[in-house]
Amino acid sequence: MDHTIDLFGVIDRLKQLVAEIGKFQQENLGSAKLALAVKSTAIDIVTEIDKKSEAKLIAFVKEYYPAHAILAEESGRSAAQSDYLWIIDPLDGTTNYAQGLPIFSVSIALAYRGQTILGLVYAPVLAELYYAVRGQGAFLNDRPIHVAAKTNLLDSVLATGFPYDVAEHPVNNIDYFTRLLPKTRAIRRFGSAAYDLASVACGRFDGYWELNLSPWDAAAGILLVEEAGGTVQPFRQDRKVSIIAGNNTIVGQIYNEIKTLQ
Ligand code: IPD
Ligand code: CA
Ligand code: CA
Repeated sequence: MDHTIDLFGVIDRLKQLVAEIGKFQQENLGSAKLALAVKSTAIDIVTEIDKKSEAKLIAFVKEYYPAHAILAEESGRSAAQSDYLWIIDPLDGTTNYAQGLPIFSVSIALAYRGQTILGLVYAPVLAELYYAVRGQGAFLNDRPIHVAAKTNLLDSVLATGFPYDVAEHPVNNIDYFTRLLPKTRAIRRFGSAAYDLASVACGRFDGYWELNLSPWDAAAGILLVEEAGGTVQPFRQDRKVSIIAGNNTIVGQIYNEIKTLQ
C-alpha cells in the first residue's frame, strides 16, 4: 500500500519549524561561547546548538507524527517500529558554523518503507529553502529547480567534501580530488553535504561526489537532485554512503575518471 500522508502539508509545517530553528542557529553563529565536543575523530565536532536544534526537530516529529521512527545524527535511532522514518541532520556544516561561516543547513528527509518521499534542506543565513516530494519535483523558495545541462566535464564546476577520518583512512578522497581537479573548471569544498546536493539540484554546481557520508547528510539532498531531473549514483560499498550527483552525463564522466582508483 502507498503512504497516506499529504507531503506538501508536511512541508508547510516544516517551513515554520525550520524558520524557528534557523533563527536560533543564526543568533549563535560562530559564537565564542559555543561549547565544542569531539565525536568520531579529533576533527569531528559538535556544539550545543546542534543538539538543541535536533531536540526541536525530534519534539516536532513526536508531536505531529508520534508513531513514526526517527534517525537523527546526535541521538541515533528511536525505538519506534514504523513504515515511516525521519532522517535528520539538525546542522549540516558544523565546522563552518563554529567558525562563523554562513554555509550550513538543516536537513530533513522522510522515508516510507525505505524510500525517501520528502526532502528538505534549509540554509538559514542564505534564506534558501529547498524541498522535494517524490514524483512532484524539487523547489527552491517555492520555485521549481533543475540540474545543470552541461555535458562536458572540463566546463563543469564540481563540489566535494572530505571525511572526518581523512587522517586515518587510506580512502579519504584525496586521490579522487587529485584526479578530477585538472579535468574540471573548478572544484569547491563548501562544508555542508546537504547544501552541496541542494546546489546541484538548482544547477549551481554541475556535479558533486563524496564518500563516507551518513544517511542524514545525504537523504534529503539525494531526493532534491533526483526530483530536479538529476542522477545520484553510488560508487563504492565500503565507505558508507558514497555518491556522485549531477545530470546523467556528468555523473558518467565523473565515474569514468575515478572508477579505477582504489
Ligand atoms: C559534514 C558535512 C561535510 C561533509 C562531512 C559531513 P556535519 O556533516 O556535510 O560537508 O564533508 O562528511 O559529515 O558533521 O557538519 O553534520
Ligand atoms: Ca552532516
Ligand atoms: Ca550535523
